[in-house]
Amino acid sequence: MSNTAHLSLNGKELELPLIEGSEQEVGIDISKLRAATGAVTVDVGFKNTGSTTSNITYLDGEAGVLRHRGYSIEDLAENASFLEVAYLLINGELPNAQEYADWDHQIRHHTLVNEDMENIFKAWPTGSHPMGQLTAMISSLSSFYPESLNPNQSEEDQHRTIRRLIAKMPTIVAMLHKKAAGHPVIYPQNKLDYVSNFLNMTFKNITEDYEIDPVYVEAMNKLLILHADHEQNCSASTVRIVGSSHANLYACISAGIAALWGPLHGGANQKVIEMLEAIKNDGGDAQKYIEKAKDKNDPFRLMGFGHRVYKNYDPRATIIKKSCDEILDKLGISDPVLEIAKQLEETALADPYFAERKLFPNVDFYSGIIYRAMGFPVEMFTVLFALGRLPGWISQWKEMRDQKQPIGRPRQIYTGPAARDWVPMEAR
Ligand SMILES: CC(C)(COP(=O)(O)OP(=O)(O)OC[C@H]1O[C@@H](n2cnc3c(N)ncnc32)[C@H](O)[C@@H]1OP(=O)(O)O)[C@@H](O)C(=O)NCCC(=O)NCCS
Repeated sequence: MSNTAHLSLNGKELELPLIEGSEQEVGIDISKLRAATGAVTVDVGFKNTGSTTSNITYLDGEAGVLRHRGYSIEDLAENASFLEVAYLLINGELPNAQEYADWDHQIRHHTLVNEDMENIFKAWPTGSHPMGQLTAMISSLSSFYPESLNPNQSEEDQHRTIRRLIAKMPTIVAMLHKKAAGHPVIYPQNKLDYVSNFLNMTFKNITEDYEIDPVYVEAMNKLLILHADHEQNCSASTVRIVGSSHANLYACISAGIAALWGPLHGGANQKVIEMLEAIKNDGGDAQKYIEKAKDKNDPFRLMGFGHRVYKNYDPRATIIKKSCDEILDKLGISDPVLEIAKQLEETALADPYFAERKLFPNVDFYSGIIYRAMGFPVEMFTVLFALGRLPGWISQWKEMRDQKQPIGRPRQIYTGPAARDWVPMEAR
């Protein structure tokens, strides 16, 4: 293969170098385009645009492949702990036993949040969506740790900020859950591992003993791993672009959480359950909703279906679907919504509309059913996605800063009115 692409514009010939990735994917380097020709590229929604090179995650949407730092998502979900995957994403390699013990120890000893953070809850009206609260809580960490405002932190200080985020996020997420229920907050316990600690803070009631069910631990660990990173998606790109202005890491993660909230991104997991419930309450007719999803005059979309980059079954959805069956079975729960989900999937996959557009279930299609079986309220689903995605966002931010990438600032093609004269108010 040649290592340049050729562009012919207004009689000028330009050679554009090709960049080849470690999996042979090819990008055309247009960094000199505007200087050489005066033209820019336009790619609304970035459907063809690589915003960076990256060493973190490889995704082949046509083949349904997802790997972090070379390790397949299937291997990681089967064998790793979430903290191991977080270490891998952030540091580039799996930790050895000593590195893991140190990492785990450091995380366990940063889980407490400043008591003043509880005061923030007093300002929110009852029933506030926890994703809005989470953006504010994470951003507020910059007030509790003002040294994070320094964009040129030492490596040790940067690592401390990262550890604080990973350690405090489960505490904050559990606080959101407790506060929404009007229950007292349960404090973290250093003797517990990351996932058990989170489940204990979430589900233990202060008046009663709580036994952490290993089925829950396994399920939660797997779900967090499956959400840990997904290369340059909407929220990761947001984190990188906010970070490119040298905003502090807490602010960047808060921005990522805000991007994740939308129903076209992480907010889909809440919408899926609401959709499945609506179908159930409407008599359970999957075909009727498939027809609605196909009707261009109907705003209804099949939530949890379709993906910008997967044009094949999302490998995370394959793992979650299998887990969903196993976990409900182990917990002895029979959820009619799972049957509707399967029926909907089967009907959609057999329909040419979905086949032609290569629309398959994505990570959000079955995850909510597991969260619900574990006892999480539906508003918490996207918050759980954010908890899983945190190490991915941090690793994307860190890579961008380590590579000293410039501020993210896309161009545009202006299509508004040409220059015109000021019109006084009385003449308008
Ligand atoms: C994820 C998503 C935003 C990707 O969007 P995108 O890459 O911009 O793709 P498009 O919206 O252009 O979709 C391509 C075609 O498939 C259709 N389509 C995509 N997702 C669909 C869905 N969930 N239900 C019905 N039709 C869908 C579009 O209408 C479009 O049809 P057209 O070519 O006839 O106009 C989109 O698939 C979606 O909205 N899915 C539901 C929300 C969701 O589950 N999000 C979580 C993603 S992990």
